[in-house]
Amino acid sequence: MANRMILNETSYFGAGAIAHIVEEVQKRGFTKALLVTDKDLIKFGVATRVSKLLDDANLAYEIFDEVVPNPTIAVVQKGVAKFKQSGADYLIAVGGGSPQDTCKAIGIIINNPEYADVRSLEGFAPTKNASVPMIAIPTTAGTAAEVTINYVITDEENRRKFVCIDPHDIPVIAIIDSDMMSSMPASLKAATGIDALTHAIEGFTTKGAWELTDMMHLKAIEIIARSLRSSVRGEAAGVEDMALGQYIAGMGFSNVGLGLVHGMAHPLGAFYNTPHGVANAILLPYIMAYNADYTGDKFRAIAIAMGINGAATMGLAEVREATINAVKQLSKDVGIPATLREVGMKEADIDALSEAAFADVCTGGNPRDTNVEEIKQLYRSIY
Ligand SMILES: NC(=O)c1ccc[n+]([C@@H]2O[C@H](COP(=O)([O-])OP(=O)(O)OC[C@H]3O[C@@H](n4cnc5c(N)ncnc54)[C@H](O)[C@@H]3O)[C@@H](O)[C@H]2O)c1
Ligand SMILES: [Fe+2]
Repeated sequence: MANRMILNETSYFGAGAIAHIVEEVQKRGFTKALLVTDKDLIKFGVATRVSKLLDDANLAYEIFDEVVPNPTIAVVQKGVAKFKQSGADYLIAVGGGSPQDTCKAIGIIINNPEYADVRSLEGFAPTKNASVPMIAIPTTAGTAAEVTINYVITDEENRRKFVCIDPHDIPVIAIIDSDMMSSMPASLKAATGIDALTHAIEGFTTKGAWELTDMMHLKAIEIIARSLRSSVRGEAAGVEDMALGQYIAGMGFSNVGLGLVHGMAHPLGAFYNTPHGVANAILLPYIMAYNADYTGDKFRAIAIAMGINGAATMGLAEVREATINAVKQLSKDVGIPATLREVGMKEADIDALSEAAFADVCTGGNPRDTNVEEIKQLYRSIY
């Protein structure tokens, strides 16, 4: 079997990297951008750093700022209409996973209009054409949507969040500029940072993992374990490290898949609008414990990457326990709640949540095969 890797064509890293947008746009001959973002990022002056660059260079653009967290089908359709009306020929996404995912769906539908209903893009839709060229600029350090071939859309009518996996959506250019992330409040840095840790741990233990992605996931775990606390404290070096760590995790998981943490987190987003990173962070240590016996010696590698003392020589059971505890401690130190009750989950919804989690495209990658009954027990035990 051959393994496939898909990554950005060009990516830039480091504080101030957004300055490279201008030369890239000019070199590629793009004429007008639709800048996809959300209202808070305009209000906080984050997205406007990019629009100012475009203004200063006399580059034409229009703004679509109607993205909401856990973006919906209706938002995507509004964005498609806006793109058509604007006369743009490329996309710039400025934001966390929500604006980036919305932007990907817009770019795909513009060039594959038979998917205008959005729902039919769920899973592995066989689109024929590459997206409208997209420049992705993350403002959170978590989802790595700028380097993944995935996007996640919420179907409000059916109370579902669905994942779309399509190599045609890969952003041509990613600009990972930690200055675009430093305005995140501590709670957002924490939640999105644990999302990135979840990508790295699930990507490392997922069924399709292989040596090349192992290298990426272990490096991401090392960087995130070392830097998330200092990023949350507001230290610039920590924010810059997290920007890189989350991207490296994305290089890996995008190409091999995730697992049950994401499978169970998506329904929480659909039912209660739970922030994606918070849902993952609460679930992660419990699902690690559920999977531990199906991961061989991988938790030892995670423990070593996290810098746990004595990890190399501990017994297997001991090193697994130490790894789960270190993940719990990290979440606790950055202020993540410990139970699903605290984020509004209702016991009466457990059956429906479990059906949705079992059907989620991420669940198939989990190292331990699961079923609806076991997922119900897991939701109950984390409630
Ligand atoms: N495409 C992928 O591969 C992938 C992977 C994981 C998650 N996701 C999806 O991404 C979404 C979550 O994205 P997210 O966690 O990045 O958050 P988000 O994009 O939903 O943003 C959350 C909030 O943070 C604010 N915000 C963002 N950046 C900020 C900054 N620099 N300063 C101040 N406020 C800022 C936004 O305005 C918004 O109100 C979910 O829908 C999730 O399912 C996608
Ligand atoms: Fe995620």
